[in-house]
Amino acid sequence: MSTKKIFVVFIIFLSYTLDEIYSEFKFTNFNCTSFDKKVGEFEYCYLKSINRSYKYISGKYKLYQIPFENLKVHFTMWKRLNGYKPFLYNITTDACKFLKNPKSSPVMKYVFESFIDYTNINHSCPYTNDLILEKLPIEFMNHRVTQILPIPEGDYLLDFRWLYSKSFIAAIKVYCTIS
Ligand SMILES: *[C@@H]1O[C@H](CO)[C@@H](O)[C@H](O)[C@H]1NC(C)=O
Ligand SMILES: *[C@@H]1O[C@H](CO)[C@@H](O)[C@H](O)[C@H]1NC(C)=O
Ligand SMILES: *[C@@H]1O[C@H](CO)[C@@H](O)[C@H](O)[C@H]1NC(C)=O
Ligand SMILES: *[C@@H]1O[C@H](CO)[C@@H](O)[C@H](O)[C@H]1NC(C)=O
Repeated sequence: MSTKKIFVVFIIFLSYTLDEIYSEFKFTNFNCTSFDKKVGEFEYCYLKSINRSYKYISGKYKLYQIPFENLKVHFTMWKRLNGYKPFLYNITTDACKFLKNPKSSPVMKYVFESFIDYTNINHSCPYTNDLILEKLPIEFMNHRVTQILPIPEGDYLLDFRWLYSKSFIAAIKVYCTIS
């Protein structure tokens, strides 16, 4: 069936305060791990604060093995309550199929649209270049989690695990707080 590809699900949340809005979003951590360095590797992955209102995350995954087939993304959202507990979402998505028809998964579509404009991955399979997330700003995420789809207060972990041919090749963890 589908092709070769890769799909990085990077996510972002942020820390930003608007005077007229009571919510505050903060990134508390951003971790990327490559489990199979024959397939690919993170060159960098970080959260940066320029000043109080301008903070962003960036990351780059270098692809060593091209092409990819059978790439899946397993997304789990956790909320901290005496340790992180599963919260709402536990979804496994076939990346190429999803890219062909994003409406097939409204949750992943929301997540995807939260970072795609800041990446080089908005195209269909296959992927043959390094995958880059460039300066995804907190303002953008702040708008999404307050205006587009409000998310309740709390400490969250968004965990993205990539499966290639059924084995985990990488994980991206985004920790954030909405208060
Ligand atoms: C995430 O990465 C930071 C360093 O970048 C490290 O200090 C921290 O322990 C890591 N957290 C997890 C949960 O792996
Ligand atoms: C924060 O940094 C950005 C980028 O350098 C700049 O455009 C903005 O004016 C700064 N904001 C404040 C409040 O200093
Ligand atoms: C998510 O779902 C998978 C299979 O449906 C299950 O094996 C896994 O334990 C679930 N994870 C969480 C955190 O509930
Ligand atoms: C991806 O690109 C297509 C075509 O350029 C555009 O119509 C679509 O809105 C983009 N998707 C996102 C999430 O930016």
